[in-house]
Amino acid sequence: MLLGFEEYEEQAQRLAVALSLPYARVEAHHFPDGESKVTLPAELPAHVIFCRSLDRPNEKLVELMLAASTARKLGAQRLTLVAPYLCYMRQDTAFAAGEAVSQSIIGRFLADLFDDVITIDPHLHRTHHLQDAVPATHAVALSATQLMRDFLRSHADSILLGPDSESIQWVRTIAEAGGLAYGVANKQRLGDREIHISLPDLDLAGKSVVLVDDVISSGETIAIAAKCCIEKAAKRVDVLVTHALFAQGAIERFQQVGVGEVWSTDSIPHSSNCIALSNLLAEAVQGIA
Ligand code: R5P
Repeated sequence: MLLGFEEYEEQAQRLAVALSLPYARVEAHHFPDGESKVTLPAELPAHVIFCRSLDRPNEKLVELMLAASTARKLGAQRLTLVAPYLCYMRQDTAFAAGEAVSQSIIGRFLADLFDDVITIDPHLHRTHHLQDAVPATHAVALSATQLMRDFLRSHADSILLGPDSESIQWVRTIAEAGGLAYGVANKQRLGDREIHISLPDLDLAGKSVVLVDDVISSGETIAIAAKCCIEKAAKRVDVLVTHALFAQGAIERFQQVGVGEVWSTDSIPHSSNCIALSNLLAEAVQGIA
């Protein structure tokens, strides 16, 4: 059985269809004081798959804890979490004394609840394997790069550009598979919304650029990168992203600087979603079953 939650129901249902599994919703009631109550189907099979993306994660993590513990109590023996966006992966070290290393804390929390955790392009930078961050029996990190490359087939003359050195892993894979030119910029983050970007030495004049990143949060990274491309006379700048977190104001910021289209996978529900992940996720679930 596959269990989903209201805010990610369409995607969870698509996954259930791809796996030919029955679907049911975990009902979450939110009390006025901010607490949650979750209700699962009273009868569960031995293997239960939860599908919930972990953007805006704090409340969702508590609800997952309540749901997973309840599923075990109801007799489920194996619990799989499919979380296309995996939260807290960016804080992978203590950048200043006293800072929590959220990646390993949240990773351990999930591994204690679930036997398997499946996700898409987690933000692994200094940690190279998902298993090191999420020590579950199966910790599976899939990549949407092949789907993105297929999506970009109609943009054969574009230059792909990553906004920072970390994006090379996605940009290079997509560009090389599609025979596209690519480069990555150098980024310095001075604060949540204070970013300096210097572009690689590429001739962008009159060219179409697609900026590629794993996560867009405030949108500032991409906005500044797009502005730099336009200053170098790029003909147009479009954006392709795996996880469309999009904090408030991000899309407006893109419009201000002249970004054209924004495309994303459906790892997080957003109006820019145009690449479905259900088949990729279904194959991974079947692969560990
Ligand atoms: C960071 O390294 C990520 O790949 C993204 O570039 C970053 O999280 C984007 O954040 P924002 O949209 O807030 O600039």
